[in-house]
Amino acid sequence: MKFTAPAGPNPIDQGKVIGHPHDRIDGRAKVTGTAAYAYERNQLAPNAAYGVMVGSTIATGKITRIDTSRAEAAPGVLGVVTYKNAGKLRKARSHAARLLAGPQVEHFDQSVALVVAETFEQARHAAKLVRVDYAPVQGRYDLAAEKANAKVPKAGQFGPSDSQTGDFESAFGRAPVTVDSTFTTPDQSHMMMEPHASIAAWHGDQLLLWTSNQMIAWAVHDTSEILGIRPEKIHVSSPFIGGGFGGKLWVRSDAILAALGARLIKRPVKVALTRAQVPNNTTHRPATIQRVRLGADPDGKLQAIAHESWSGNLNSFREERAGSQTRLLYAGANRLVTHRLADLDLPEGNAMRAPGEAVGHLSLEVAMDELAEKLNLDPVQLRVLNDVQYDPEKGPERPFSSRKLVECLQEGARRFGWSKRNPKPAQIRDGNWLIGLGVSSALRNNPTKESEARVRVDKHGKITVESDMTDIGTGSYTILAQTAAEMMGVPLHHVTVKLAESHYPVSCGSGGQFGGNSSASSVYAACVRLRQALAHKAGWDIEATTFEDGKMSCAGQSMPLAQAAGPKGLSAQDKIEFGDTQKKWAQSSFGAHFVEVGVHRVTGETRIRRLLGVFTAGRILNPKTARSQLIGAMAKGIGAALCEELVVDKRHGYFVNHDLAEYHVPVHADIPHTEVVILEEIDDKSSPMKAKGVGELGICGIGAAVANAIYNATGIRLRDYPFTPDKLLDHLPPV
Ligand code: MOS
Repeated sequence: MKFTAPAGPNPIDQGKVIGHPHDRIDGRAKVTGTAAYAYERNQLAPNAAYGVMVGSTIATGKITRIDTSRAEAAPGVLGVVTYKNAGKLRKARSHAARLLAGPQVEHFDQSVALVVAETFEQARHAAKLVRVDYAPVQGRYDLAAEKANAKVPKAGQFGPSDSQTGDFESAFGRAPVTVDSTFTTPDQSHMMMEPHASIAAWHGDQLLLWTSNQMIAWAVHDTSEILGIRPEKIHVSSPFIGGGFGGKLWVRSDAILAALGARLIKRPVKVALTRAQVPNNTTHRPATIQRVRLGADPDGKLQAIAHESWSGNLNSFREERAGSQTRLLYAGANRLVTHRLADLDLPEGNAMRAPGEAVGHLSLEVAMDELAEKLNLDPVQLRVLNDVQYDPEKGPERPFSSRKLVECLQEGARRFGWSKRNPKPAQIRDGNWLIGLGVSSALRNNPTKESEARVRVDKHGKITVESDMTDIGTGSYTILAQTAAEMMGVPLHHVTVKLAESHYPVSCGSGGQFGGNSSASSVYAACVRLRQALAHKAGWDIEATTFEDGKMSCAGQSMPLAQAAGPKGLSAQDKIEFGDTQKKWAQSSFGAHFVEVGVHRVTGETRIRRLLGVFTAGRILNPKTARSQLIGAMAKGIGAALCEELVVDKRHGYFVNHDLAEYHVPVHADIPHTEVVILEEIDDKSSPMKAKGVGELGICGIGAAVANAIYNATGIRLRDYPFTPDKLLDHLPPV
């Protein structure tokens, strides 16, 4: 099915199953421990040996010698993989660096060996006996120092790195009220609950890979590229995933090393990275330096908007698109957004939790707060005043498919009691706590992506959905079951959803907040086909046939699905493809965040006291799982504001704080009750589901709302994230 024009009325509009807050259908398996995650699939590979990864202890340079003899002689050891015995390995185009180093080392903790033994303890012990000598060379590890050497990145999947409308510089020069602020955001780590883990087994020349991965088809493709074997020979399976956040979009060393280990010892091998290996061995969100300049009329209308961003990466790999939201969020005739990329020899920087927008809002939305203060305007009012219903770079010819930013801001302000905010900073005290309120807009783009699914009805009238779509904790199983139930007119418990096997139809996968909308649309498309097939089989007119209560009916006749399907059942497969709908309409989901903080006047500690997010994301397929995603994303955004930072050792080129004891993410005690309000919206230009992406929206903007609340509480304007107590302490008034 090709989606080329706004969706007309369709069975999803009935809202009998779609739009209801159903519990996750995989929830019981997860909380009872019966959902087998990658490292636990022992029944599939009961004799798997254990592999432990050895990472490079230098960031940049060469291996001069590897001595594995002591490791090989250690008790229980079955083999040691290094570049010397691994055979020819290529670098996949989706990777910045090789997943097994040698002799060249490209980044710290890049894998140099896999030690395989009968038990995990034996492998871990022997891993310490692998001796590697290096010839290190000095690399580049400091973004600020390399900023001047940053270049225009090559145009990637997001198009050109720069965009310009009108004449920013002269409009900014003329503007009576201006802001010119520079912000920094640090490197960050995904820190998903389940570290990267895989079990690999070879059946002849076939590779079976049970792994934890967001994108099954990419995993097949990249493994094929790296190992030089045909994709048809690779089977990837990933039915349960303990979080990804972008860190599992591509296969990593655990998968490839497990495959190499299994080939070496001719037995299945399981590999899990340790928590401490994840930040340096895998990917992270790159640090940014961002300069935002805003110029406005005295009445608050923006005339000039510029967002310039610098980030670094290994081997000129890819930039962090921190200016993305600035291209779309506000009106203004003169605009400039640029991205520059510096070469750094840190580990690979890549997608993490709303790449681009998540850190871009941290600058733009604080600069808006600064501008509101200069204009003596309420920050909500300033945002409302600069709303625009079309792509402000392209003009009215490219309207938004739907956009309710103003409604989100106004509804949020009303619910939060925003009118009681004192615009003058540092006025409210509660004991030792300085109290402030902050607001931010939220925009996250709504990409749509080709996706395919198969739907079958059996002789009992039960439905099975198959697709290589993944559920990374987001609720895919549940919303796909709801989609099929709605389309086929059966109760939810008559639908079985089977996901994340590479022999199923290729889906969009989980990423970029396109997963829910696009994969549900593929199930919709397959169900349309199945309905046609059933009507055709019955000799009925599909246009007049309805599917309800486990039956299909047409012109006064009615037949149970079980009977219509016949003894062999019936199945249909289809793909949703998107025409130029993304070109014709700007597509984003929107929201507004409201935060109340307390800053301790003695310790500089910031506590979140109240928080509210109001969002729109088209049709909400399941309000419960959507809300869960929004809450999780908001917590992560608070992490970005207050605590999350990979600390770079700028001499030796690695992330120092590589565990959860020192890389701080918010925990329950840090996050009070999170109020989430989702406003009604139907977006017929996005997909037949009329839904938009919701998974990454919640992280966009909330960190800026925290920053603005800290300013309102203390009068201290911080621009270097995260705002740890030490940064506030220097500026707090003496006690
Ligand atoms: Mo997302 S950062 O594209 O998994």
